[in-house]
Amino acid sequence: MCIHRLIYKSIATDEVVSNKTLQDLESQATWSNGEKGITGLLMLSGNAFLQVLEGQAHDLTELFGRIMQDRRHQQVELITFEKIFERSFSDWNLRLVDLHDMPGQQRALMSTKYRKSEGNIAIPEELNEVYALLLDARFICLSAPWIAKDSGGNKARSA
Ligand SMILES: Cc1cc2nc3c(=O)[nH]c(=O)nc-3n(C[C@H](O)[C@H](O)[C@H](O)COP(=O)(O)O)c2cc1C
Repeated sequence: MCIHRLIYKSIATDEVVSNKTLQDLESQATWSNGEKGITGLLMLSGNAFLQVLEGQAHDLTELFGRIMQDRRHQQVELITFEKIFERSFSDWNLRLVDLHDMPGQQRALMSTKYRKSEGNIAIPEELNEVYALLLDARFICLSAPWIAKDSGGNKARSA
């Protein structure tokens, strides 16, 4: 089966994204993505979202169409949409990671590796750095499962 990866970034509409907003979003998205065999991770850094989604091309384009219309965020910008040979985020239908909640040691490490903006890790401009940031987040989630436990930490349903 041909799998694609879609990555975009956006800015949350509210200056401070409430836990309730995130929880509602995550529980709906986890269920819905599971139905479509979509896997991925949604990162929040300050008020910036960075999301990676993996699945069949038509499911991703259909989902991205809905995401672009969502009023909970703005300035939605597609970073990449490409064919891939294997998933990198197959552990979760949607894992939510708020970088603010990361343990101090990991936060310090990330802060030395990535550029910061107003105290938060900035979403990188270069595609290879975007991948690196998402894979670092994945690694931290897998090695520190207590972060935002129960938040999308489900084993992904298979595609
Ligand atoms: C940052 C962000 C990420 C989202 N990610 C997903 C997702 O991975 N899967 C999903 O089904 N909905 C996601 N949504 C919610 C969709 O935008 C949309 O509200 C949802 O799919 C329901 O669409 P509908 O009301 O047209 O049925 C996300 C919304 C935001 C703001």
